[in-house]
Amino acid sequence: MNKHVSSFSKDDAFETDILTGLKAPQKTISSKWLYDDVGSHLFEAITGLDAYYPTRTELSILEQNAKKYLRLPGAHGAMVELGSGSSRKTNVLLSAFQDLSVYMPVDISANHLKEAAEKVRRAYPSLAVVPVTADFTGPLDHLPLLPELPVVVFFPGSTIGNFERAEAAQLLRNIRTAMPEATMIVGVDQPKDEAMLIEAYDDPAGVTAAFNQNLLQRLNRELGATFDLETFAHEAVWNTKESRIEMHLVSLRSQEITIGGERVSFREGETIHTENSHKYSEEAFTEIAGQGGWRVLDRDTDEGGLFSVYTLQAV
Ligand code: AVJ
Repeated sequence: MNKHVSSFSKDDAFETDILTGLKAPQKTISSKWLYDDVGSHLFEAITGLDAYYPTRTELSILEQNAKKYLRLPGAHGAMVELGSGSSRKTNVLLSAFQDLSVYMPVDISANHLKEAAEKVRRAYPSLAVVPVTADFTGPLDHLPLLPELPVVVFFPGSTIGNFERAEAAQLLRNIRTAMPEATMIVGVDQPKDEAMLIEAYDDPAGVTAAFNQNLLQRLNRELGATFDLETFAHEAVWNTKESRIEMHLVSLRSQEITIGGERVSFREGETIHTENSHKYSEEAFTEIAGQGGWRVLDRDTDEGGLFSVYTLQAV
């Protein structure tokens, strides 16, 4: 394949997506663009913050239930991880799944993926580690899976919460189509006290703010945009009706920027909506899973009921 052409068309898709989002009445940038190399590292830093409860809570649920997940057929075959996130969660499962043959992390960030795969290879020399650089929000039919190996899909971090309900169902449906007999282990954040949510998404150390603002830096770096970062502030808001935390970047003054040869103007206080993080009750998530073609086998949670880990069976 022609390297130059393929990377050009990828950048082109990035630019087109960004420009479309910035022309909408509510300016929007898909949260998947938060994860360039800098963004992936900033997110890693977020997962270690006291304020950010999801990572440590999910980790403890996985530790408590890893033995039980060993009963899933895929635990003795291939584990496909979507959005290779925190290596600590992966480790909990890989160390429990002693006779797993294949580990296939799928992630949009090639460098992040390479680093993570290398660590797993060193720690588990007998495991076949097959990293796949892909945007898993699209069809997944190209995954190099062996038909005779049972599959468990690991989808941690409540990443499923970043999608609108219909998109989440479609994503689950795509996974089911690519892996029709699989089971899944999915992390899903629970609705909870608003103050705790705001603290987690607007942490006192400002790491989440940096994570959000990196998006504008990325547009400056990669698309030659002219955002002045001093004039856009991070904001986290709880949307009760949709049961989600929203991240926005608020323009602190009326201004005009240029990007890809186009001008985009902002009113003072106007925002770019950069992420949704839905918090699903058991009822809400069971409905979405059902729409995607999955039956809930089990739901495991922590003592405080902050976070849930579901096991699902393709139906
Ligand atoms: C890993 C995408 C699920 O929504 O909690 C963390 C991303 N955003 N802090 C989340 C995130 C702000 C995280 N996800």
